[in-house]
Amino acid sequence: MNRQREFPDWEQLYRDKNVESMPWFNPELDPDLDQVLTKLNLHTGTALDLGTGPGTQAMALAGRGFKVTACDISATAVRKAQGIAKEKGLDISFRQDDILNSNLDQQFDFVFDRGCFHVFPPERRQDYVSVVDSLIKPRGYLFLKCFSHLERGEQGPYRFTPAEIKEIFSIRFNVIFVEETVYQGTLDPLPQALFCVLEKY
Ligand SMILES: C[S@@+](CC[C@H](N)C(=O)[O-])C[C@H]1O[C@@H](n2cnc3c(N)ncnc32)[C@H](O)[C@@H]1O
Repeated sequence: MNRQREFPDWEQLYRDKNVESMPWFNPELDPDLDQVLTKLNLHTGTALDLGTGPGTQAMALAGRGFKVTACDISATAVRKAQGIAKEKGLDISFRQDDILNSNLDQQFDFVFDRGCFHVFPPERRQDYVSVVDSLIKPRGYLFLKCFSHLERGEQGPYRFTPAEIKEIFSIRFNVIFVEETVYQGTLDPLPQALFCVLEKY
């Protein structure tokens, strides 16, 4: 399950392709995030959309009144998303940033990661945990969507069991829940996913 996986050159991908054709493209707010924001009564505050890609999640959050920063390793992804957000009249702070070597210097009420963590190999996961921990305010949240162990096949992102998520994150986060769900996008059928709610200690 955890053999080394291959990923595209993200910058090349965003230069070559329209974001609408990408498997993760979802113009709406992720329904699992939507539900948990309601459940936690979170309607205002600062949010980081980590690995924003097409920027749809950042835009949906900004449309709901959150003060949003959106980052991605691909400068082209950031530039394209910034253009669309501007057309929509949304005020989002877009940053080109490699989360494993981050220059972000703010703490957020929550971080949303829909599909970035699950591209990192096992040996980088604790680096990710400590950077993301440093970007969240005390008692703030990490909302994480990643591929589930129930997703078949060998292609694409790493897969995780709920127990693995607990093992990786419990050093810095209280794992509130991990649910089996799907990853909304352009694939049919939709990939099996986990939605994880983690609260910083
Ligand atoms: C599966 S896509 C998900 C995009 C977006 N979150 C969404 O839901 O539409 C993963 C994203 O992570 C970005 N990414 C990969 N490695 C990264 C890194 N080290 N730092 C920041 N972003 C990264 C990629 O460029 C890509 O946009």
